[in-house]
Amino acid sequence: MFKWKKFLVTGALCALSVMTLVGCGGQQAAAPSSSSSSSGVATTIKVGSAVDFAPFEFQDEGQAEYQGFDMDLIRAIGKEMGAEVEIQNIGFDGLIPALQAKTVDVLISGMTINDERKQNVTFSDPYYQSGLTMVVRKDEQSIQKFQDLKGHKVAVQIGTTSANEVKKIEGVEVKEFNTPADCFMELKTGGADAVVNDRPVSEYFITKSGQTDVKELPDMLTAEDYGIAVAKDNKELADKINAALKTLKENGEYDKIYDKWFGGAKK
Ligand code: ARG
Repeated sequence: MFKWKKFLVTGALCALSVMTLVGCGGQQAAAPSSSSSSSGVATTIKVGSAVDFAPFEFQDEGQAEYQGFDMDLIRAIGKEMGAEVEIQNIGFDGLIPALQAKTVDVLISGMTINDERKQNVTFSDPYYQSGLTMVVRKDEQSIQKFQDLKGHKVAVQIGTTSANEVKKIEGVEVKEFNTPADCFMELKTGGADAVVNDRPVSEYFITKSGQTDVKELPDMLTAEDYGIAVAKDNKELADKINAALKTLKENGEYDKIYDKWFGGAKK
């Protein structure tokens, strides 16, 4: 007869040893990603990110690896925690649902910490200070300040703080798109008069791709801090991430990553 008891005990021991990295035949990748092991930290951290947001998360044509500031940071955090990092590309408005469904354990996606999201997720300490600006066509005269958006068509990425903020301005026709790239396309083809988006992303887009027909305006709508999100009830994982983040800030690793993507500009 099949020995259920022995099977279960052996199975449990095996699962335990996988979690402690000793491994069943060293198959580290086969470890469950649940963060409920005794140490509270999984050996593989499943990360969700909307990989459409250079220089934070993007993919160059012909390159398999996702790259950017967030990607380097989360890999460094994983290393610090002794865990593998597995990144999944998920549309921005699908990230929090994916976290809630436990498809992923962690979100890093240039995600702004705000009260509304805090009802559904737990954020790490802030890791980057950002803000929202407008991009318009070079010849645009009538838009200088955010309030000037009244009566105009404005393109924003769906599910973002930009979308929320623009909707608060009266008389704006808000057009929501899946990615910032789609928003910029809409601006260039005349379907929108402005794009509202995170400042470093718009700056990177204009300078890196040598845009000459659009400009970023100096008016900044909000200051926003980016945070790494975990499931609302997973404070333990947030603590581990915060500890890793602190170490990386102290040992100069954070600065190295920052300088790689932002060229030593102010933090
Ligand atoms: N910071 C903004 C927000 O949290 C935009 C983030 C968009 N991120 C992305 N990877 N597309 O809503």
